[in-house]
Amino acid sequence: MQVLTTIEEFREAKDALKGTWGFVPTMGYLHAGHLSLVKRARAENDHVAVSIFVNPTQFGPNEDFAAYPRDLQRDLDLLQPHAVDLVFNPTPEVIYPPHFQTYVTVEEVTRHLEGAARPVHFRGVATVVTKLFNIVGAERAYFGQKDAQQTIVIKRLVADLALPIQIIVCPTLREPDGLAMSSRNTYLNAEQRKAAPVLYRALYAAKEAFDKGERSGKELRATMRRVIEAEPLASIDYVSAADPMTLQELPPEPSQPKAEEAVLLSMAVRIGQPRLIDNFLYENGQWLAGEFAG
Ligand code: PAJ
Repeated sequence: MQVLTTIEEFREAKDALKGTWGFVPTMGYLHAGHLSLVKRARAENDHVAVSIFVNPTQFGPNEDFAAYPRDLQRDLDLLQPHAVDLVFNPTPEVIYPPHFQTYVTVEEVTRHLEGAARPVHFRGVATVVTKLFNIVGAERAYFGQKDAQQTIVIKRLVADLALPIQIIVCPTLREPDGLAMSSRNTYLNAEQRKAAPVLYRALYAAKEAFDKGERSGKELRATMRRVIEAEPLASIDYVSAADPMTLQELPPEPSQPKAEEAVLLSMAVRIGQPRLIDNFLYENGQWLAGEFAG
């Protein structure tokens, strides 16, 4: 496993290895969720590249860029057993050299949910992912369903700009109590950690209501809200029951023909200061609610 920090070094190392490439972009502080993407990339390609880069442009001015957990040696130790060929670990100056002024903006689907709560976030994500795709030149890239809107934005970007890469979305990996794995879970103290599975329970309650026939967007949102409001440490940033294509909220009364039913249940909730996100997706007659680790 080679670790490369400049674009030139990365391209040279990659050119020496013939075959197909799978790419897993990350911000590091890796956990089993990230590693599940690496395993999938390993299984489907001759070679695997992972990037580790805490991307400053996707954090708002009052967000956690400085505090975001970083530990390169720990990340490399976790990647080592997975036969990763190349790790790209650039400095901010490599990605954003002096006079940098070119950004990628995906429009409509970034206006809702995380995009509404975090105005510069998806411009930063779309820009860095485009640049990383151009540097790495992989056939396939792997993303987690955990960041549902991110997968929608990246698929839109790839389709709209005809980027020559296939996007593969992998299930959300969860702790045994349902909490979605996240680098940000390290922010939770013991008491907050106990409260954090409330996101999963709220999504599960709305899924059960949906499975019993509930189709009102208003009722599905109210179901999630009720579960979260019963947890004293939790405060809602948003809860959503939306069309997964457009991310428009489902109306109070159902309008979709039954055969085309699809819904993205998603939320951002603060447990004390830390802000957590999670989602369940219903599509093609089945729920994508994630998998339990271990
Ligand atoms: P990061 O939060 O490090 O996540 C890297 C990838 O791991 C993303 O595709 C994310 O959805 C996936 N992931 C995170 N938690 C997961 C879980 N519990 N189960 C499965 N997959 C999970 O997302 C980013 O970084 C950045 O925005 C990035 C795309 C790297 C651009 O900077």
